[in-house]
Amino acid sequence: MVIRIIDAVNEQAPAGAKKLFVKSYGCQMNVYDGFRMAELLAPLGYTLADSADGADVVLLNTCHIREKADDKLFSDLGRFRRAAKEDAILAVGGCTGQALGAKVMEAAPSVSVVFGPQTYHRLPALIEKVQQGRIARAQGHKNAPIRAVDVDFPELEKFDRLPTPGAYGPTAFVTIQEGCDKFCTYCVVPYTRGAEISRPWQHVVAECEQLAAQGVREVTLLGQNVNAYENDGITLAGLCEKVGEIDGIARIRFTTSHPNNTGDDLIEAFATNPKLMPYFHLPVQAGSNRILQAMNRNHTVESYLATLEKVRAARPDIAISGDFIVGFPGETEEDFAATLAVAHQVQYVGAFSFAYSPRPGTPAAELPGQIDEITKKERLAALNVVLDDSLAAFCKKFDGHTVEVLVEGHGGRAEKFGQPQLRGRSLHNLPVNFTFGDADPLSLMGQLVNVRVTHTTAKALNGVLIQGL
Ligand code: SAH
Ligand code: SF4
Ligand code: F3S
Repeated sequence: MVIRIIDAVNEQAPAGAKKLFVKSYGCQMNVYDGFRMAELLAPLGYTLADSADGADVVLLNTCHIREKADDKLFSDLGRFRRAAKEDAILAVGGCTGQALGAKVMEAAPSVSVVFGPQTYHRLPALIEKVQQGRIARAQGHKNAPIRAVDVDFPELEKFDRLPTPGAYGPTAFVTIQEGCDKFCTYCVVPYTRGAEISRPWQHVVAECEQLAAQGVREVTLLGQNVNAYENDGITLAGLCEKVGEIDGIARIRFTTSHPNNTGDDLIEAFATNPKLMPYFHLPVQAGSNRILQAMNRNHTVESYLATLEKVRAARPDIAISGDFIVGFPGETEEDFAATLAVAHQVQYVGAFSFAYSPRPGTPAAELPGQIDEITKKERLAALNVVLDDSLAAFCKKFDGHTVEVLVEGHGGRAEKFGQPQLRGRSLHNLPVNFTFGDADPLSLMGQLVNVRVTHTTAKALNGVLIQGL
């Protein structure tokens, strides 16, 4: 799949191209941005490579959400510097680029360009500036600038400057909203991605149409508070309706939502929009109202559960997933027990759970009562047992049943499974691996098919192809 994606991007690059390596860390919004960066540089003669070996330009599209994400950047940088060409341009973009700005260059002398999530459309100019500066230095202009930093927040400008997005398989991400205004006390996103702003709905629909024309069947609409999307009177529910009218689009998903922005129209859409998948990612973060308040989440456990109740009433089979932070400053055993209780009650079918990581510049990093790392690890492990159990129980429910699958690619190896397999996702976003008898696997790619589930694992379904839909 990686190779196919690379080939698809490279179709746009002229012959004799230079080598570009892009690594995206963090959330789906970064994955979306990473593809757009490669597409932006393709017409300038850069082909996408699957490693930094011999690369002319290395782009690190970073994440700043937890300390570990930053550590990873700095360890990768050294490795990529050694692997790339001697005179390669190393560029750090994404959320760490935005948060640290020129400080990245102080910490890493090999970095020539720093940019942020809202300025990557200016990458061609930033790279050009470095190249011109290097030429000038070679000609004896000792002070010519050979490094460039651009961490502005131009609102939505990038979307108007990006090329038509490519399709790299039957499923695609579409960013519909940028930034975040919520300022949860632990979180860097409002500082790294700027103010919350929704893209014009016509632009989103046009992008989905372009993707559908290239064979995309499923779109995942992205934003940090995607359910707060609103443009020209069109809410997320309205947008899903419009996207659902596009020929070829069979499935719509969206992520990630905030408990306070789940409008009744969106809840109703789960019941009435047949293209909207029965899957809702609604992070709760913690099960104690005291902690939620200290997090500035502006919702209670009760209001969160009440929202889920309404959603379940509208769409009884809906799968709920979420995010959790354990070990927030001041979290007592009792608070943590409340988080476990929510996890038990909701029976999540997928969740991201994290140990709290103090982030410089966020209010929570200054709070008293910081929890030691061992306690955080223990709490995380205990929570993960509950989360893993509910996912496994959900998978088990499908044993012996037929599920609809969007075929995304080749599955497990034939040597391991006896027969070759294909893989895709069910309506509830569960990974499905299945054998396909004597059907032609290539003709099944990007199709919706029925699969009879023959056994389940803790996180996935396995089965056999019954028929195309
Ligand atoms: N906008 C989304 C999530 C964005 S960040 C929302 O509000 O749900 C993704 C997840 O990272 C968060 O939901 C949270 O669980 C986690 N996270 C954010 N900051 C963190 C920190 N400082 N330490 C640990 N986890 C964090
Ligand atoms: Fe971060 Fe909170 Fe915004 Fe989500 S809603 S991105 S957790 S500040
Ligand atoms: Fe990370 Fe930025 Fe996404 S901090 S989680 S890449 S918005």
